[in-house]
Amino acid sequence: MRNLMIAGNWKMNKNYTEGVELAQGLADALAGKDLNGVEVVVCPPTVDLKGVSEVIDQTNAQFSLGAQNVYFEESGAFTGETAPSMLEAVNATYCIIGHSERRGYFGETDEDINKKAKALMTHGIVPISCCGEPLEVREAGKHVEFVVDQIKADTEGLEITDPSKYVIAYEPIWAIGTGKTATADDAQEVCGAIRETLAEIFGKETADGIRVLYGGSAKPGNIAELVAKPDVDGALVGGASLKAEDFSQMVIKAGE
Ligand code: PGA
Repeated sequence: MRNLMIAGNWKMNKNYTEGVELAQGLADALAGKDLNGVEVVVCPPTVDLKGVSEVIDQTNAQFSLGAQNVYFEESGAFTGETAPSMLEAVNATYCIIGHSERRGYFGETDEDINKKAKALMTHGIVPISCCGEPLEVREAGKHVEFVVDQIKADTEGLEITDPSKYVIAYEPIWAIGTGKTATADDAQEVCGAIRETLAEIFGKETADGIRVLYGGSAKPGNIAELVAKPDVDGALVGGASLKAEDFSQMVIKAGE
């Protein structure tokens, strides 16, 4: 069975000192708690990764480390980019790829995202691969096919031997940072279609082991309803991951 996952995406928030403080606050809030198998991940900005990694080690924290982005080349003249091996060296276990903000503001394509997934998997880092439709696609009723096409392109040629080592996050763009959450039924509709697509590509057994998260204004007040849906395996959380109290509440509520 799939363990639920609650992953915090801090985006471009929290400098080094603030990031270490937030990680410490979260470690304290979760210390000694029974999370009922919910896996917790935090994804700080790149310059905070090492500091958060140290907090995780020192406090034996009940969460693991993820990055927000990676480049698919191993090393070389790619100013400003971060290689998978560099994430590995700071003990990042996960890395978000293909977030709609990367696609929208930085022109990332499905081809880039596919290459990033392959590069990460070569280094044993688990991709959290994002997909999701813009508002006009949703309004035109084409959201399921839009997301299915993204999934097919993003997973092309991937070899998934252990389904716990590949994670998808469905994040409808119109629900990100807007306070407009998709209803739990909306989330289930698309997450279910994603799982069917994964079953066509990788077989049912593998598809049944891949976590499909929902993202977009997920918060303590709606997490229980979201994870009650059969194909929603947790959440990728932006705004509500920036306060240790809110985020730890979400983790606990998801596990109840
Ligand atoms: P939000 O962001 O929770 O602030 O809507 C989610 C995300 O973009 O990952």
